[in-house]
Amino acid sequence: MATPGAAPAPILTEAELRLLQALVYHECGMHFDERRTHFLQDRLLRRLRECRADSFYAYYRLLVSPEGKQELCKLLENLTVNETSFFRHKAQLDLFQKHVLEELLKHKQARREYWVRVWSAGCSTGQEPYTLGMLAVDALAYYYLRNPLPMEAPLPKPLIPLPWRVEILASDISYSVLRTGQEGIYSESQMASVDYSFRLRYFDKVGDRYAVKKALKEMVHFDFHNLKTEYLPQRNDVIFCRNVMMYFDEAEQKRLIEKFYRCLNPGGYLFVGHAESLLSLTEKFHMVHRDSGTAYQRIEVRE
Ligand SMILES: C[S@@+](CC[C@H](N)C(=O)[O-])C[C@H]1O[C@@H](n2cnc3c(N)ncnc32)[C@H](O)[C@@H]1O
Repeated sequence: MATPGAAPAPILTEAELRLLQALVYHECGMHFDERRTHFLQDRLLRRLRECRADSFYAYYRLLVSPEGKQELCKLLENLTVNETSFFRHKAQLDLFQKHVLEELLKHKQARREYWVRVWSAGCSTGQEPYTLGMLAVDALAYYYLRNPLPMEAPLPKPLIPLPWRVEILASDISYSVLRTGQEGIYSESQMASVDYSFRLRYFDKVGDRYAVKKALKEMVHFDFHNLKTEYLPQRNDVIFCRNVMMYFDEAEQKRLIEKFYRCLNPGGYLFVGHAESLLSLTEKFHMVHRDSGTAYQRIEVRE
């Protein structure tokens, strides 16, 4: 219902909708089909009102002007869906920890390359990259127990046994979720899926909330990356891009998978969301499936 005295909402014409849809797609790959037009329309109206633009065309003109860069970022932030949780989809995480990491560590050690790099692309408020960090620390500790190296352990004992290094890169298109992730403080309800052994080792209780401990925080680096662009982080052993591609159309999904292929080290792994799949989108990955967990491994092409 309209607020008494408030100006009536401007009408969004079909042509304006198409212009704005195309702009959003061009900027970040998000595709708003008929099922999601209502959501797009609602968010556009909110931003238009905030900017006091008197029509959707005027708002569009602002977005494409040099002065409109900041507003464009705000609009894109408003259009993202940031739903996430710790330890989301356990079967995939088991596959990551017990199979993918185990195999990676073995190969890396044979080549005396003591580092592992995991990228959480579309990390939202940080629960995914911190989960990956906790799992990687535990996987490495267990691997090291069976494959120790003749190194003197410094005191206090580091989270990662020397000479190993684990780097988790966490990126998103929304600055506000990146800030929350960097802060690393979560409420009791956000912690619901974190069991007590992880809480004890990786979090401090601050009032009624939980703060990620410094050692884990130092492993995770938050950074802005728009997956639509060509310049994305290289040399990753594993990429997690879960529940992001579902907002892109098929053409954009194919482009993104191609980019992920180049961003992975030879033999690297890509994890997508539980409801997403690479089938019919590429022939450059093969599917690895274990106990309801699925990942995709980069296929090496012989020159
Ligand atoms: C539904 S959340 C998924 C979070 C996490 N990966 C998970 O599965 O729990 C999707 C995230 O993708 C981000 N995103 C959407 N389009 C993006 C783009 N073009 N580049 C980078 N991040 C994007 C959103 O900002 C949002 O935080």
